[in-house]
Amino acid sequence: MVKKHKIKKIAVLTSGGDGPGMNAAIRSVVRYAHYYGIKTYGVLRGYAGLVDNEMVEMGLRSVSNIIQHGGTILKTSRCKEFETKAGLSRAVRNLDENGIEGLITIGGDGTYRGAYDLTKVWRGQVVGAPGTIDNDLYGTDETIGYDTAVNTALEAIDKIRDTADSHERFFLIEVMGRHAGFIAIEVGIGGGAEEVLIPETKSDLSRLSRRLIEGKRKGKTSSIVIVAEGEEEGNAFQIAEKLKKVCQIESRVVVLGHVQRGGNPTARDRSLATELGAYAVEALRNGKTGVCVGKIGGMLKTTPLKTAFSKKKKPNSFLLKLIPILSN
Ligand code: F6P
Repeated sequence: MVKKHKIKKIAVLTSGGDGPGMNAAIRSVVRYAHYYGIKTYGVLRGYAGLVDNEMVEMGLRSVSNIIQHGGTILKTSRCKEFETKAGLSRAVRNLDENGIEGLITIGGDGTYRGAYDLTKVWRGQVVGAPGTIDNDLYGTDETIGYDTAVNTALEAIDKIRDTADSHERFFLIEVMGRHAGFIAIEVGIGGGAEEVLIPETKSDLSRLSRRLIEGKRKGKTSSIVIVAEGEEEGNAFQIAEKLKKVCQIESRVVVLGHVQRGGNPTARDRSLATELGAYAVEALRNGKTGVCVGKIGGMLKTTPLKTAFSKKKKPNSFLLKLIPILSN
């Protein structure tokens, strides 16, 4: 049997872009830790709260009635100061002065990098949990917030399809994903899109225009193309301009934007967040540090933080292949 580490006081923070399910993860951390007699402090505004010493003790009741809400009760930020030597050492001093022995950081790759930097200068344990709607983190099949974001985007796309069809129009819909096309692919499949343009693959706009023209010839009355925010050919407005130039195709552009980051988490996100929150506490109890938790092939796993932010998760190439075939 693994000997459990006697950790007594931990902290939890959310950092980077928020995602639905972060509250469910916080709730799980606090209550699971409490079950094992571990006190949890909530760090406000991500790493900024570590640097500025903004921490609050959390009890069973501080996480009541939050599992169903989007956003994060701890607030979040992208903290530049934490990337400096001075900022890091202030964070370390604050953690030590508060007697914190382990920290759980919920966020994306920037959060993991910060967590890794902290392991190099702090003697406490650090465990990451994947929280980003982009799903672009290695070490887990899905990140907390992804499923909700996909469903939110899909609901909007279904509505756009109604009007696209009535007016026999072509729409370009931009979804989030600064460096990744996971949301784009998933909604492209679910929304029956003509094509998805994502940063991971080279896009061919001439081929796309040919397909759109050909589609019209074959009797298609409307078409939807999904553009991931990080697409190298440009954002949806720029692509619309290019298509107009190349093949005189008139399009309407919709940028879904931050609406994808909010809203009540889906059942799948609540359950993933709950499992990963508790598993992060388990990792601390097992004496682990410098790792992140994730779920791969249905199994809870830990991966070194450095591996998680250095390796790139690959988009599903079969789904990518299917999108143009099935929208024919
Ligand atoms: O990191 C998730 C994400 O939603 C990206 O897809 C997007 O590019 C970015 O956050 C937007 O961040 P901000 O709200 O800081 O502009």
